[in-house]
Amino acid sequence: MTHTSTGIAGLDSILQGGIPTGSAVVLEGAPGTGKTTLGVQFLYAGATAHNEPGIYVTFEELPDQIYAEMKNGYGWDLRALEKENKLRVVCLSPETFLHQLTEPNGIIEQMIRQIGSKRMVIDSISLFKLSDASEKDQRKSVYLVRNVLRKFAQTSLLLQERNGEQSGEIPFENYVADGVIRLAMKEHLQKYRKRTIEVLKMRGTRIVEGEHQYKFVDHGIHVVPALSMVEDKLLPTQFTPTGIARLDKILQGGVPEGSTFLLDTNSKANHKYFIASIFAEQIKAGKNVISLNSSLTSVTDTVNFLSLFDVSIDELLKNNKFFVIEHYKRSYPSQYKDAVLDVSDLNNDEYKQYLRQNLLPVITESMGKGERWYAYYDLNTIFSQRGAQFVTRFFAEEVARAKALGITVLALCNFAEMEPEVSSYLERSSSGVIRTWVDGNYQFMQVTKSPNGVVSEPLIVESSERLPYVNLV
Ligand SMILES: Nc1ncnc2c1ncn2[C@@H]1O[C@H](COP(=O)(O)OP(=O)(O)OP(=O)(O)O)[C@@H](O)[C@H]1O
Ligand SMILES: [Mg+2]
Repeated sequence: MTHTSTGIAGLDSILQGGIPTGSAVVLEGAPGTGKTTLGVQFLYAGATAHNEPGIYVTFEELPDQIYAEMKNGYGWDLRALEKENKLRVVCLSPETFLHQLTEPNGIIEQMIRQIGSKRMVIDSISLFKLSDASEKDQRKSVYLVRNVLRKFAQTSLLLQERNGEQSGEIPFENYVADGVIRLAMKEHLQKYRKRTIEVLKMRGTRIVEGEHQYKFVDHGIHVVPALSMVEDKLLPTQFTPTGIARLDKILQGGVPEGSTFLLDTNSKANHKYFIASIFAEQIKAGKNVISLNSSLTSVTDTVNFLSLFDVSIDELLKNNKFFVIEHYKRSYPSQYKDAVLDVSDLNNDEYKQYLRQNLLPVITESMGKGERWYAYYDLNTIFSQRGAQFVTRFFAEEVARAKALGITVLALCNFAEMEPEVSSYLERSSSGVIRTWVDGNYQFMQVTKSPNGVVSEPLIVESSERLPYVNLV
């Protein structure tokens, strides 16, 4: 299937290249949302960039008014295009239009042949309804228009007025049309309104679902597809996979060396498999480990979980390459004696000093030998044991130190239970944020920040019998 470019790059990308050629698409929206502008832009792009002449049919405005608006607003000289036979602007009544369109060799057909028209915009099919025809006849006319446009292979936009969300009823036109694109205006950031464009239907093409924002710029409408953030150009770096296929694809290889990722999760979401899979892959990649556990996860739990992922820490333990920072008084098997750093009795200052004296020298020395480290922090533990203030300070220092040393960090946190300042601070300081939450009967996961600027849509977390026990859909 070939696609016809809409002349709006962002919209083309949402439509995987454009509107399927020859289809009739309803473009609906409230007054002032930009239907006319988008329609004319579609014809203008066809005429000037794709050698596809087109016809603009209007029932409302006089041609002079349209020429002036488009020239003044966007610099589109429609008159010049008409002179070059790349465009026709037709102003007539809905009745005449219907009559001429269906008449053998009527004026519309003649016009299509004359200029070799490939595109058509009808502004607007809502006006079919104003005529005194019965509802049945109105339906028939939309049906008829669609069939004739198909016959003449016109890729067309049928503009349609739609007032808000008031009626849940789906208009008949939307069933008949090959596609439906909706323009809307919504409340945004209190003071502002945002304009959104959404493709509700497009036969024969995959679409990027959801609402995308658009603006009027000096050359027409500009659509910014959702989730296309500004990219940080990364220096070539090594990635360690997360072990979760879809996540690795989004992150374009996995977690970059020396980056800090946050895993934001609410209490209902099962985050264990995400953590364990990343943890296991880091160990498989040859990293040494620091793990700061929660009250719910003992050393033994960590070890057991890793063994579910076919990873043993015996070697690391033997060689002093696995440490657990323990905030809770609890017993642990004696083979972990050297690995556990018991900080349960230390106040905040003592704690920091302890890490500086006992952990940092080990790490720097081993890094001098070319070894690499992975640190996992349950920030909820720091939060509950050492306070919100300490979280920001601790995290700031840890991230800075990790960056300087090239330690890869994964921190578990729960934004919902933090002050907004703390969570946004954490978010800013880290290079990646992965969120997982439960909504209704489903768990979701979304990458909301990543070092390469790629952000994902919310994905459903499906459990799986096989490693890594989760599957993202
Ligand atoms: N640069 C701009 N910034 C903000 N708004 C703009 C800009 N240029 C045009 N507009 C607004 O866009 C709207 C015009 O869009 P257009 O006429 O295409 O909408 P429409 O959906 O066809 O409306 P109608 O239902 O009235 O025909 C106007 O409300 C105008 O104020
Ligand atoms: Mg209009």
